[in-house]
Amino acid sequence: MFDSKTVREDFPILNETVHQSLPLVYLDSAATSQKPNQVIEAITEYYQHNTANVHRGVHKLSDRSTQVWDDSRETIAQFLGAAAEELIITRNTTEAINGVAYGWGDHQLKAGDVIVSTAMEHHANLVVWQELCKRTGATLKVVGLKNESILNLTQLEEILEQGSVKLVAFGHVSNTLGTVNPVKKIVSLVRKLAPESRVLLDAAQSVPHMPLNFHALNVDFLVFSGHKMLAPMGVGGLLVRKSMLLANEMQPWLFGGGMINQVHELDATYSDDLADRYTAGTPDVASVRGLAVACEYLAKLNMTEVMMHDFSLVQYAYEKLSKIPGLTVIGLQPALDEDGIPNRLGSVAFVHDEVHAHDLAQILDSEGVAVRSGNHCTMPLHIACGWQATTRASFNVYSTKEEIDVLVKAFDKVLKIFGRN
Ligand SMILES: Cc1ncc(COP(=O)(O)O)c(C=O)c1O
Repeated sequence: MFDSKTVREDFPILNETVHQSLPLVYLDSAATSQKPNQVIEAITEYYQHNTANVHRGVHKLSDRSTQVWDDSRETIAQFLGAAAEELIITRNTTEAINGVAYGWGDHQLKAGDVIVSTAMEHHANLVVWQELCKRTGATLKVVGLKNESILNLTQLEEILEQGSVKLVAFGHVSNTLGTVNPVKKIVSLVRKLAPESRVLLDAAQSVPHMPLNFHALNVDFLVFSGHKMLAPMGVGGLLVRKSMLLANEMQPWLFGGGMINQVHELDATYSDDLADRYTAGTPDVASVRGLAVACEYLAKLNMTEVMMHDFSLVQYAYEKLSKIPGLTVIGLQPALDEDGIPNRLGSVAFVHDEVHAHDLAQILDSEGVAVRSGNHCTMPLHIACGWQATTRASFNVYSTKEEIDVLVKAFDKVLKIFGRN
């Protein structure tokens, strides 16, 4: 049975105090999650006992390091319902999306082609496509929102019907609204109306919070960041359908040692081993090991239970924060769909009708509560909805309702300072 109080014992940072003696209330997990001892110790153990470069060594320690690398890749891919060969290790989601642009887009797109993204995307899933359009002459079309909370699927259908769509890139869970997008529905629309199009799912905010299976989702690319799912910073991944890799539809975009087959002075060929082909240079084995241990940790907690824990926090925060005078919680009223999947996860963001988001965050911080304010790298969403900035409380497996109570209580100080009490 999932118990966040027991989970918390694994996270040493949660014992920290801030501003001299206030217990830390960390509600900024959508920006980055904290790391359990299991992950921290796995990284230390790698450096203490297995440090050596992979593949290229002929000695025993290099063998051990290679084994750690291979096993870790296997574990991470399995956690996401993919084959290890389909996993390309990157530094984060941003690098993974750039990888698709350079390794796939630069070779597959031409003037007249259309890339579709949405108005609720993180900048990483928008700016990269703007740049790809500049390089290839393709056109970017952006699907808007309904009720400042969900994607306008009628508009998506219209865009798909207009033709020439070669890529649809969208987020699974919005990092600002918390909206869980209907992946199945969107993918089936794309397959029906634009069968030549590829689909990229930005799973940065879904992998940490819900069970997920690359092949069941039926997408072509899936991108994620380790640091948002209890793993170290600086490691993430890109899943690419194996058939696309075998057909060389996705080409290497980083070149150098480790990924080659034959190198001559003026020419080179690249490894046919899919795991090597997209790994140029010395990989960060320790972080990949940390990510694998984070996957094991989450799998042991059970991702369905993780999701329901997260949803209960979203529901609780939504309800409590909605009662605070002058505060408007943005996004959908939390609910489960017919399959028992939450319509929102991960975070609750809000705006105050008098107090600026940054002032809110600063006062909450003075009470020990860490939240984020600004546009959360979703400036187009903020512009479309007319928000100058929002304040976001976000959760992970170690977050509790008691922490949300502290957040709500901290509003007493906000209201006192701004004269509502
Ligand atoms: C939905 C979404 N996509 C992409 C990113 C970018 O992730 P990273 O900074 O780890 O590359 C984030 C980070 O907040 C995100 O929330």
